[in-house]
Amino acid sequence: MKIGLFDSGIGGLNVLKEFINAYPNNIYIYYGDTLNVPYGEKTKEELFDLSSKIVNFFEEKEVDLIVIACGTVSSTCLEKLRSITSIPIFDIISPTINYLKKKNLNGILVFGTKRTIDSHIFKDNINNVIEVKTPEFVIMLENNKIDSLVIKKYVSEFKEVDALVLGCTHYPLLIPEFKKYLSDKVEIVDMGKVIVSSMTLKNNSRYKLDMYFTKIDENLLRNINKIIKTKYLISKI
Ligand code: DGL
Repeated sequence: MKIGLFDSGIGGLNVLKEFINAYPNNIYIYYGDTLNVPYGEKTKEELFDLSSKIVNFFEEKEVDLIVIACGTVSSTCLEKLRSITSIPIFDIISPTINYLKKKNLNGILVFGTKRTIDSHIFKDNINNVIEVKTPEFVIMLENNKIDSLVIKKYVSEFKEVDALVLGCTHYPLLIPEFKKYLSDKVEIVDMGKVIVSSMTLKNNSRYKLDMYFTKIDENLLRNINKIIKTKYLISKI
């Protein structure tokens, strides 16, 4: 299969990594809109404008399916994006909501971008949810400058929850930081792992990964190599 995945930047690579682990022999095309990161601060209209161009790009590449590897676009533009293409589009949040519904937890903390949290997509669909905006996280990660104190400020307030949902695909990169301040009993829910376990795909006969970014610099290359351990080609678009 030829699978297109996209995000504002490196976050979706955490999702791509899970797909590659589960389905090593497929053709993957990744689009990171690094010129416009962070998506979490944009309006719905701006997000649709940017993400519809990415869907058009994937149409030209003739992918078999598109994965919105971004919580922000998943929570705001899913239906509109589905209406402009006949390629099946999978969002990252619905499988996570289905997963949490089955678990009946008492306290679910969701960290997300401003736009995702403002959509209340988690609160509207699951009980016992606390939604928290964590606007600093994406920029810290894209710039490779993690401030442990900022993370501590958010996490230590909520020690008693059953689960922490990483409502933005950038956040798995902060799991070691989160673990410093949370008890071992708190389940950390990674949306990339959840979506992959919710899908059944066919393996192809070969592996290929082409990545396209709207802005490429040294920092980005360093970040990619931290997450993706398989071969890839990278181009600026
Ligand atoms: N990784 C994206 C998300 O899941 C986008 C974050 C951003 O660019 O603000 O929401």
